[in-house]
Amino acid sequence: MSLLFFKRVLANPVRVGYLVPSSRFLTRQTAKLINFSKARTVIELGPGEGCHTRRILRRMDAGSRLILIELDDHFARHLETQFAHDARVLVVHANALHLAETLGKLGVSEPDYIVSGIPFTIMDRELREQLLANIARAMGPKSRFITYQATIQISTHGLFDLVRREHCLFNIPPLHVMELRKAVVAS
Ligand SMILES: C[S@@+](CC[C@H](N)C(=O)[O-])C[C@H]1O[C@@H](n2cnc3c(N)ncnc32)[C@H](O)[C@@H]1O
Repeated sequence: MSLLFFKRVLANPVRVGYLVPSSRFLTRQTAKLINFSKARTVIELGPGEGCHTRRILRRMDAGSRLILIELDDHFARHLETQFAHDARVLVVHANALHLAETLGKLGVSEPDYIVSGIPFTIMDRELREQLLANIARAMGPKSRFITYQATIQISTHGLFDLVRREHCLFNIPPLHVMELRKAVVAS
């Protein structure tokens, strides 16, 4: 287990959410939902120490880009060092609450995928709703939102329509992996 991850959980248990990084089973299952022949711009929210990032980069084209948005400064610095030599990666030390604005400044609109490890289901309801509204705002009709969570609560959220839902048993804790698109009624 990553010592950095453990230290950041102790420093901020609600924000980091789980005791250990995602397992290789979960990172594989999540990456399988991405169509890499179409994925030009992928956003990862809450990449932590980068276990999903590494898995995504293994399959991503040289011409595609992966924008990592991480709130924790220790994780953000670790990601910057880890991916400094990969031209596909941009690390942004920011709060996903400002996702639409952050992407606007980078000239990104309607990313192909938003992959999120932010533990929505264990956080304060108001914060969760603001984060989800911002994610929906950043999406276009073809964007896909992929998230791994302890409950399936988001799969019935009015801002999104469920495309696919799977379960990963081989993770601590076992998590649901959901692929969502922006609901037609969402603005
Ligand atoms: C459950 S950990 C997931 C880490 C990693 N993706 C994994 O699967 O092991 C949640 C991550 O989301 C980050 N995070 C939480 N709230 C955030 C926010 N509002 N904006 C950006 N990152 C956030 C935390 O700092 C942490 O890195």
